[in-house]
Amino acid sequence: MTQLLGVALRGTGSCLPARVVPNDEFTDVLNLDTSDEWIRTRTGIRERRFAGLGETSASLGAIAARNAVESAGLTPHDIDLIVCASVTPDLMSPANANLIQAALGCRQIPSFDVLAACSGFLYALSVGSQFVRTGAAKHVLVIGTEVLTRTIDFTDRNSCILFGDGAGAVVLSGTPVLNAGVRTIRLYSDGSRQELIQVPSRVTPNPPPGPPQLQRLDYMRISGREVFRFAVTRMVELIEQAEADTRELGLSGIDVLIPHQVNQRIIDAALESSGFPKEKVVVNLDRYGNTSAASVPIALDEALRTGRCKPGDTVLLVAFGGGLTWSSALVTL
Ligand code: UT7
Repeated sequence: MTQLLGVALRGTGSCLPARVVPNDEFTDVLNLDTSDEWIRTRTGIRERRFAGLGETSASLGAIAARNAVESAGLTPHDIDLIVCASVTPDLMSPANANLIQAALGCRQIPSFDVLAACSGFLYALSVGSQFVRTGAAKHVLVIGTEVLTRTIDFTDRNSCILFGDGAGAVVLSGTPVLNAGVRTIRLYSDGSRQELIQVPSRVTPNPPPGPPQLQRLDYMRISGREVFRFAVTRMVELIEQAEADTRELGLSGIDVLIPHQVNQRIIDAALESSGFPKEKVVVNLDRYGNTSAASVPIALDEALRTGRCKPGDTVLLVAFGGGLTWSSALVTL
């Protein structure tokens, strides 16, 4: 008989490229009809990171993964499964998870990718958790990593100012304490609204020199205003569901909310509508922009490292994006 286990969040890690791109670069270097003031007031973003030469979503993901394994007090040899979420993998095949397995020097363990856009990390967390809960894997590495800036049209002011590159990772480990770690995960999708955010083809891991707009034949397309409305509605629902979950589980409440980092106005509107306290929300989009599947694990890692959340806290992770997909996870640290 399968003995169910608790799923502890044992370690976290992240990796941000060194190149900082402030808002002014869109006007001063790319000659775009925008302004630092517009970007700051309409999105909350001040700067973001761009992957440099030789950096790919697999290479950033491998560094974040190594940091997570180290912070868990483990070695790559201890990992039993790798699940990686990305809409910008280095290749169609093999999976980024395979590349990261090799980069870390793990055993010949299963490793595969999950694609659920900005919800990808929480989808991957759900998969990893279930391997741990059933005892099929003891230690699982879950990664969200993106180089979205290689999918955007740098002549489109509606989209190109929003995104940044980066990676985040966690290690999940089995624990005999059932009421610990990952408590609930909720995943949703609505493919009938697929056209609202699309990345039509894969990114190139080795962009040729020259202006960024020459790196692809086609680009990410978003319908910003529609996605904005969808994001606020779903974020409110996910917060209300999680509050009901905490009551059912007998928890004292949500200590920290880590939402997908997309737009300060989306977060503010959802908080106002749900009545969730602003001081409990972790925001770093001002420094990194929207890093899609990497945004939640980067913010979680930063929040733990800076003491913004601490062991024992109940944290709500919330994400939404292309698919359309939306998702949440309630985790006791
Ligand atoms: O993770 C999921 C992917 N993320 C998203 O899809 C983003 C979600 N959406 C958003 O964050 C916001 O909708 C945006 C930031 C994209 C746009 O903000 P908005 O307040 O919804 O603006 P809007 O689309 O209603 O556009 C208002 C005006 C337009 O000008 P007109 O038509 O009123 O003359 C836009 O052309 O703002 C203009 N605009 C800009 N102006 C200066 C749009 N982008 C810019 C820009 N600089 N970068």
